[in-house]
Amino acid sequence: MYAWHTTNSIMVKPNITFNDMKKSRIIGVGHYVPDRIITNEYLSTIMDTNNDWIVERTGIHERRWFTPGKDTVTSMSATASRIAIERAGLSPMDIDFIVFATITPDYFLPGNGVLLQRELGMKTIGALDIRNACSGFIYALSVADQFIKTGMYKNILVVGAEIQSSALDKSDEGRSSAVIFADGAGAAVVSVVEPDQPGILSTHLHAEGQYAEELYCMAPSSSTEVRISKEMIDRGDFLLKMNGNAVFKHAVVRFSEVIQEALEANGKEKSEIDLLVPHQANLRISNYIQQKLGLPDEKVFNNIMYLGNTTAGTIPIALSEAWEQGRLKEGDLVCLAAFGSGFAWASALLNW
Ligand code: UT7
Repeated sequence: MYAWHTTNSIMVKPNITFNDMKKSRIIGVGHYVPDRIITNEYLSTIMDTNNDWIVERTGIHERRWFTPGKDTVTSMSATASRIAIERAGLSPMDIDFIVFATITPDYFLPGNGVLLQRELGMKTIGALDIRNACSGFIYALSVADQFIKTGMYKNILVVGAEIQSSALDKSDEGRSSAVIFADGAGAAVVSVVEPDQPGILSTHLHAEGQYAEELYCMAPSSSTEVRISKEMIDRGDFLLKMNGNAVFKHAVVRFSEVIQEALEANGKEKSEIDLLVPHQANLRISNYIQQKLGLPDEKVFNNIMYLGNTTAGTIPIALSEAWEQGRLKEGDLVCLAAFGSGFAWASALLNW
């Protein structure tokens, strides 16, 4: 334990020493995806697209879109969270903090974390929303990791959940984005463990705001006279806008960099990775990174083929599916990496 001391009458906590430092570990994962399957064939009946183009350019065959009146970001995340908490051997009352990653919350305010806290009937714990889009889950995991390492909390619920389909331009003009984005939720329980246990080794976070408008959604906005007006709706300001080519070019560079950064920080080689779980942006991006790292198919987890790109949901959903399929064994070296709107990108390296 560290000792408190005073300097100029101010109480200060000295830096926590390595021996005091706790470690955090993902001890339960869960996910939920809506039951409405949207096939490429269906999309080709509502916009000028076709199955061959979508499969060749994105790797996606089908994705899930929410059912209005049934699914909300809160309801989907609550289902995913209940599963994660149960698999962790805990109850919602054991959770002492929520970190909720979403850019598609149910309300403009308050955040989705508090809605989840209410939905799960939890104690009056803190709930924090994270708005880092595709990198949101790794940002959220990093926040949880810091709170646990410093001894502030023991069991943190980390969520990534989105409903993107209601912000998609489903006309021919929006077809390049409309075919990739999808809806779903994933959750992880991150808990304190002793330093010699498997757990999170590092997280690395980056952003480059000069590219904010390459992938963004303008409305509702607090900087217009009213947050949403008929003119804004008519202009489609509430729809997701993406310069796909620019995002793709930056993604392949930043993904590789941030994975390398994680490996170097921990003195690991790429060949030591047991499972790479990349943000599911486009199968071509995942395949490019896989090739660059020289990893065999069984060391990369992809589910974009049947779930599409669920933004902050992709990584926790993938972790939950990988766990269900027995592809995560105790101690495995797992690398998470993401790139997206912001631009923001991130990686996490952990022992499962
Ligand atoms: O997760 C958050 C971060 N997001 C990403 O990482 C997404 C990164 N970007 C991408 O995945 C790809 O850029 C897209 C899948 C969005 C688009 O693929 P692309 O290979 O970059 O296509 P493009 O936009 O360069 O378009 C190529 C052609 C164009 O036709 P012309 O001008 O060559 O005649 C498009 O009009 O393909 C056309 N096109 C389509 N055709 C059929 C674009 N979208 C479609 C479509 N169906 N859905």
